[in-house]
Amino acid sequence: MRREEIIKALEADDFSEYYNLARDLTRKHKGNEILIRAIIEYSSFCVRACAYCGLNCFNDKATRYRMTEKEIIETAFNAINVGYKTIVLQGGEDPLFIDGEILANVTYKIKSNFPDVAVTISAGELSDEVIKKIRDAGANRYLLRHETSDRENYKKLHPDSCFEDRYRKLKVIKKLGYETGSGFMVGLPNQSIESIADDLLVLKGLECEMAGMGPFISHPETSLANCENGSAEMTLRCVAIARILLPDANLPVTTAVGVLNSEMRQRAFLNGANVIMRKVNPEVYKKAYELYPGDLGETNLKKERMDLEKMIRSVGLIPV
Ligand code: 5AD
Repeated sequence: MRREEIIKALEADDFSEYYNLARDLTRKHKGNEILIRAIIEYSSFCVRACAYCGLNCFNDKATRYRMTEKEIIETAFNAINVGYKTIVLQGGEDPLFIDGEILANVTYKIKSNFPDVAVTISAGELSDEVIKKIRDAGANRYLLRHETSDRENYKKLHPDSCFEDRYRKLKVIKKLGYETGSGFMVGLPNQSIESIADDLLVLKGLECEMAGMGPFISHPETSLANCENGSAEMTLRCVAIARILLPDANLPVTTAVGVLNSEMRQRAFLNGANVIMRKVNPEVYKKAYELYPGDLGETNLKKERMDLEKMIRSVGLIPV
């Protein structure tokens, strides 16, 4: 799809032809399997000032915590024991983690005990050397959303960085041999349809192996507290177009979609998405990792996984 066609599709009254195509491509390229990932949010400390995020460094109401290396490893092993085959390690840009030592140790520990489990890093813009060090320790994948391709909006939302640095970092990640994931938010303040089309083309340009798209959800303790949330429908359209542009990519139905509307998750699985992530943090740390407000249930690793598998089977798909 070219830029003009993407814009037209995103705005169309009837999007069903694209949903159908996305569904067919998903079945053809990804089969009937839905991949379930465990995400461990190891630190809520962050030096960044991202305007939309509840963990931005100016939010002094945010609860800050960091898990110890031992706790992260224990949590990962618990998740693996109930069936998870991918561990995503996500955290704010916490000075204590910036040298990559803990992330490399945790990765090495997981990979040496469970060589078939994949480790995914989502730790922001670490230095090139540190990203390499974690790769050398065995990490398989790296997630770093480009957030928005609109340069001006990027600067407004991230006063301490710029789109070009983000893009360069994604190239470094790719070159180091990581399966690379990018993505963006849908419905950010001042975001145009044209820039969403550009966001989709950024994913294509990077030949991303993974792409996460989620609606913007306004956080009450940020400068965007009074802004409207993004639309779940528009997000699903983006996922479908991402599937058409990148038929082999792994595309999650993001947590933010489920926060807005839990039925939308099932719909996303039938229209292009093939991945879902589950928080597996210990209870004490779960609520504190609040990028955006959302209802979080109690942590019961086994039960949560079983419920999710049931939901996936209910739409005729196979949880993995
Ligand atoms: N609404 C939706 N998504 C958000 N993220 C951070 N804050 C918000 C928010 N308020 C997303 C960003 C980031 C990912 C980890 O979470 O896209 O890359």
